[in-house]
Amino acid sequence: ANPSLLILPGDGIGPEVMQEVRRVITWFSEKRGLAFDITEDLVGGAAYDAHGTPLHDDTMAKALDVDAVLLGAVGGPKYDNLDFSVKPERGLLRLRKEMDLFSNLRPAQCFDALADFSSLKTELVSGLDIMIVRELTSGVYFGEPRGIFEEGNERVGINTQRYTESEIDRVARSAFELARRRSGKVCSMEKANVMESGILWREVVQKVHDEDYPDVELSHMYADNGAMQLVRAPKQFDVILTDNLFGDILSDCAAMLTGSLGMLPSASLGAPNADGRPKALYEPVHGSAPDITGQGKANPIACILSFAMALRYSFDQGDEATRLETAIEKVLADGARTADLMGEAGGTPISTTQMSDAILSALDAS
Ligand code: NAI
Ligand code: MG
Repeated sequence: ANPSLLILPGDGIGPEVMQEVRRVITWFSEKRGLAFDITEDLVGGAAYDAHGTPLHDDTMAKALDVDAVLLGAVGGPKYDNLDFSVKPERGLLRLRKEMDLFSNLRPAQCFDALADFSSLKTELVSGLDIMIVRELTSGVYFGEPRGIFEEGNERVGINTQRYTESEIDRVARSAFELARRRSGKVCSMEKANVMESGILWREVVQKVHDEDYPDVELSHMYADNGAMQLVRAPKQFDVILTDNLFGDILSDCAAMLTGSLGMLPSASLGAPNADGRPKALYEPVHGSAPDITGQGKANPIACILSFAMALRYSFDQGDEATRLETAIEKVLADGARTADLMGEAGGTPISTTQMSDAILSALDAS
């Protein structure tokens, strides 16, 4: 059977960028013989409009069944006043929860043509290609006890940083697996100097490494030093493995090393299914961008790069993923710019469709 893909365009610019991704997928099936069984369905506000829920049970079942889910974006002003239980974001949260997507992958990859978008000097980011693996389903955002309590004559706000060995073990494995498909290097970040959970984190990561991934080069770093190193000399890193809270902050920080929101893909991985592939959801980091919806201005690259990640991490097509990334690199080097990539130089931007036209031409020439 062909690998299966569930496409959920969602709201706002989601369907606009996903339409361009569909053209890229068609190119790979026609020109490279990569056939996928594709199903398309609704999520977010679009699903609410059709079914009164941001994620229909049938869609949830499909998501659990396929090899990979590709999602555009959810949300928009039209849905801002809905009850919390049916808000568009709840559709995405339900997918993450029921697919048990505990490992969030955020690449920070610098395309040289856009190096002047970086908040760092060009030479520090030129050629940069790092991957932050953030634990996504546990840690201080979920630990109990949590709440605001009375204590004496004042209130106290409490969150609990909590990690079990098995939670650390599984996310560490996903980072080591990734490292084997990249440069073979992992840097794990915590604060073992001041946090018990950090001590356990370091211990378990080291144990998983020594037992099952001795071929991967592992180092440990305190997360505060990691933040400093990330903006001082980011190219020293390949895979960074970290917890939910530090990963939230470090991945936003790393995103600014590379520029526009319209360029950033992501993946969330869960436990391996029967054939050993992790459950997976790929999506751009950006949202539904209501301010530019329907104007042909959206940059489709974040969503196209999310599909490249799917090729590499769900479908074992690393060479084809590189082919796609190289085509994108080429059109950017040739000067193709959607409005979000214009910068201070100014000029006339191209449309969403023109950007993918250029990418398809570069693929044809590859
Ligand atoms: P946003 O990411 O949608 O937009 C932020 C800014 O970046 C806007 O000016 C937008 O025009 C621009 N932008 C975003 N993606 C772009 C692209 N591909 N090309 C060119 N420009 C792009 O974040 P915002 O405005 O905070 O949220 C808008 C809606 O999206 C809200 O309803 C929010 O809840 C939802 N959202 C959904 C996410 C998801 O589906 N994973 C993530 C973040 C927000
Ligand atoms: Mg964040």
